[in-house]
Amino acid sequence: MRTVKFGIIGCGLMGREFASAVARWCHLPEMDVKPQIIAICDTSEKILKWYTDNFNSIKQVTNDYKQLLANEEVEAVYIAVPHNLHAELYCAAIEAGKHLLGEKPFGIDKSDNEKISECIKKHPNAFVRCSSESPFFPAMQKIGKMIENNVFGQILEVNSGFLHSSDLDFNKPINWKRMLKFNGEYGCMGDLGMHACHMPFRAGWIPKNVRAILSNIVKERPDGKGGMSPCETWDNATLFCIAENEDARQEFPMTIKTHRIAPGNKNTWYLEILGTKTSVRWSSKQINTLEVLEYTGGEQGWQIIDMGHDMAFKSITGGIFQSGFSDSILQMWAAFLYELHHGKPMSKFSGCVTPDEAAISHKLFTAALESEKKNTVIEIK
Ligand SMILES: NC(=O)c1ccc[n+]([C@@H]2O[C@H](COP(=O)([O-])OP(=O)(O)OC[C@H]3O[C@@H](n4cnc5c(N)ncnc54)[C@H](O)[C@@H]3O)[C@@H](O)[C@H]2O)c1
Repeated sequence: MRTVKFGIIGCGLMGREFASAVARWCHLPEMDVKPQIIAICDTSEKILKWYTDNFNSIKQVTNDYKQLLANEEVEAVYIAVPHNLHAELYCAAIEAGKHLLGEKPFGIDKSDNEKISECIKKHPNAFVRCSSESPFFPAMQKIGKMIENNVFGQILEVNSGFLHSSDLDFNKPINWKRMLKFNGEYGCMGDLGMHACHMPFRAGWIPKNVRAILSNIVKERPDGKGGMSPCETWDNATLFCIAENEDARQEFPMTIKTHRIAPGNKNTWYLEILGTKTSVRWSSKQINTLEVLEYTGGEQGWQIIDMGHDMAFKSITGGIFQSGFSDSILQMWAAFLYELHHGKPMSKFSGCVTPDEAAISHKLFTAALESEKKNTVIEIK
């Protein structure tokens, strides 16, 4: 069993999710590679105690990411920091010779994303991927196999989205994810968009153009100190695209929705593919339920399949049991380490977002901003 020694830079919400996945690596009995956390870095010291209380493998604790990157024992890093820091920290990690799982959107904007892509090109030995756990739910894996088996016939329409609702509370205090400086001009697209793009992009369904409707619904929020602060980022984005598949033999409408104010949706991923032979739809609201309609000329009836625990990477959990968010995170980490160790993903839909896929998302979101500004359709090149 190979052990990959990791450092975490940015130990907030997502840093803890990674650490917790490491702690239950024994859940994955067939993995021949495992992560070990040996170094952590965050500018907020109080956040680090949870890690040192729970992981006795940690040898380095620092508030300076450069010190962590100078640690020769660290082979790979997970970086989960605000978007304005992605380009600086990701490039520094790659230049220091570390493998990297970086968080989305992989650069605060297209220009920062291009800096990261350039840096990756100069350091081909670094294994670099972007985080998105959305394909690692059993239903999404099954849809991935259906895409590979080309069951849909002519594709009529694809709808993919990621919906949140806590921002419906206008009294929710502002945080960095609602500030232009830290979150970027993309707003909700930068935050939620990669999750909605991951499956379509991996399928090879690439938007040719976009007409975007972006909404800034809440213009200011409590600043947490008794006053109000401007809230300038887009809350909701609906992207209407014409997508084409890789060999450009088919074009079809595709919508990508990323809403922070979608009433009733705490954290809903969904994907719907409508085709002349087979249609399929899934939403994480009914995590265990995959709906499939196969049309052979007779009645058009939706079948319901209970998904259970049919994971990409074999898990000790019994096959009948439902999966959840932390399972998909564990699976995403298995995908990162598997590909790092074996040099290729276990299957097409069990790989993390590639830098090229992240770059396509930046083209899409940048075109969406232009579409909103000009009130028109923008071609994506
Ligand atoms: N994959 C997912 O499902 C998912 C979910 C939420 C967030 N994210 C992404 O993860 C990233 C982090 O988001 P989060 O929710 O964990 O945020 P967070 O605010 O909870 O954590 C970010 C941490 O980075 C630290 N930090 C800031 N500047 C730093 C620096 N210079 N050096 C070291 N640490 C620094 C902060 O102190 C904080 O603890 C973002 O890119 C976000 O888009 C991904």
